[in-house]
Amino acid sequence: MKAAVIHGAGKITCDTVDDPIIKEERDAIIKVTATAICGSDLHIYSGGIPQLRPMVLGHEFMGIIEEVGKGVKNLKRGDRVVVPFPIACGHCFFCEHSLPGHCENSNPEHYGPEGGLLTEKGGALFGYTDLYGGYDGGQAQYVRVPYADYGPRIVPDTLTDEQVLFLTDIFPTGYTGIDWGNIQGGETVAIFGSGPVGIMAAKSARLRGAERVIIVDTVPYRLAKAQEAADCETILWQKDGKEVVEQIRAATQGRGADLVVEAVGFEPDHNFLDKVKAVVNIEKGSPKVLETCMSAVRRGGTVSVLGVYPTTYDNFPVGQFFDKGIILKGGQAPAHKHIDTLLKYVVEGKVKLNDIITHRLSLTEISHAYKIFKNKEENCVKVVLNPWA
Ligand SMILES: NC(=O)c1ccc[n+]([C@@H]2O[C@H](COP(=O)([O-])OP(=O)(O)OC[C@H]3O[C@@H](n4cnc5c(N)ncnc54)[C@H](O)[C@@H]3O)[C@@H](O)[C@H]2O)c1
Ligand SMILES: [Zn+2]
Ligand SMILES: [Zn+2]
Repeated sequence: MKAAVIHGAGKITCDTVDDPIIKEERDAIIKVTATAICGSDLHIYSGGIPQLRPMVLGHEFMGIIEEVGKGVKNLKRGDRVVVPFPIACGHCFFCEHSLPGHCENSNPEHYGPEGGLLTEKGGALFGYTDLYGGYDGGQAQYVRVPYADYGPRIVPDTLTDEQVLFLTDIFPTGYTGIDWGNIQGGETVAIFGSGPVGIMAAKSARLRGAERVIIVDTVPYRLAKAQEAADCETILWQKDGKEVVEQIRAATQGRGADLVVEAVGFEPDHNFLDKVKAVVNIEKGSPKVLETCMSAVRRGGTVSVLGVYPTTYDNFPVGQFFDKGIILKGGQAPAHKHIDTLLKYVVEGKVKLNDIITHRLSLTEISHAYKIFKNKEENCVKVVLNPWA
């Protein structure tokens, strides 16, 4: 079959690889009909999250069930499904506590209670390095889905692939950022990062009744897309972020936003001085955006960290965290927890997800697709790939 294979930083190609097979009773094989590239894939592509051997990437995919193992009773060949991105067993302590990203069974080689530092991880993700379980991903014609009786959800035939594809990751992820802030209606939400995750957080803030939604980015066309797709106010990050904090405070009677969502991660656009600091402190990338979120939130407010941070970071503002009484939440989003509610919103027409798609390409164009998404060429916001074109 054809699949997108990473061969070290900056090199991803469409290769011919072996078709996946059923290995465990609870597996299913899915014929992928649509798949997308996530900002998280860019961390592997940049080398920031390393993968040494070649691997099929992709954790946002959907398709038709081709075959199921003996243990899968709720799905059959021909069912059309979306698959949440964490690989989770459904039965361990964390799965039972709606924390599928921390599943104790799906990533036995690298699982550990310590976490962080690119060594001890939580549960596995599809196509997301050996550290995260070593499973092949869904930027391919076929994919093996473990614990298929727990993750995949059947979707109605009345909806197109593009209408439901983002239920796999970015919509539940954006929604999680808002849910962590316990939004009840009437709040001001500030979102850093106007990429696919940030825009889904903005849509979710609207769904949950936030009164003002302000989105921040360094790239004007990304802000324009957020304004169009989620009807939010925009702020262009131009200098060191202090100017952004001032504008958010000015919009909130000097207090700061009730909820701030970090949807950028450890590889923001950062300047030379930030890069030197990272080398001196042996840090990966920069925690600059997260630090700015801590300033932009009001006292007693929440900062939801959706962007990925892999290492320790010196000078993290613990004093500010304590003095302001900030609630800090983060991690891989529990996609399984929200996917049914969110599918209902899509079916009812309460939210539209496919309006962020800017590029529809063939899987054979994968190198180009990663390049334009990473470098923000051709006003790229979200790429959807057809594995069969
Ligand atoms: N927690 C989860 O479960 C989860 C799920 C999906 C993605 N993610 C992570 O979320 C982050 C965003 O993903 P995405 O798909 O939207 O990717 P993306 O890279 O397209 O979006 C990031 C956006 O941040 C902007 N940006 C860069 N520097 C900035 C700055 N200083 N201030 C404001 N904005 C800045 C970029 O211009 C870009 O628009 C990534 O770190 C990704 O790994 C996490
Ligand atoms: Zn993702
Ligand atoms: Zn589990």
